[in-house]
Amino acid sequence: MTSRESEGSWTPTFAAADVEHTPRRYDHGSVGVLVAMVDGLPRAVSADCLHKGAALEGGVCRDGIITCPSHWWRYDLRDGSLQGTPGAALTVYPARVNDGVIEVALPESSRPLSLRETLLAHARGEDVADA
Ligand code: FES
Repeated sequence: MTSRESEGSWTPTFAAADVEHTPRRYDHGSVGVLVAMVDGLPRAVSADCLHKGAALEGGVCRDGIITCPSHWWRYDLRDGSLQGTPGAALTVYPARVNDGVIEVALPESSRPLSLRETLLAHARGEDVADA
């Protein structure tokens, strides 16, 4: 198993104080995550709207509910749920605060490889086409 195959690497994103009132987008390779503090707890959900993929960052956020700036779909940042549509939800990522910084458990496979990792993978004959 390579390091890219393991899941759930804790990744530091933003200072908790910096997202207390305004969620911010954090890009991790191919994954965009919206990071926020809601009710004093760190939250992380996928950063793009389920409707037409608009970025949720910049949407109005009140009481843990963010409104997509494009067509006003609303999501609860606590569980990613789309308001008014049972069963539809953004992906939720585990989040924690460590020394004032929100860390999010992101799939290791979404992290871009460093040059060294790419060269080592090539040397081992691994497929790194998506890197
Ligand atoms: S893209 Fe978000 S509501 Fe349409």
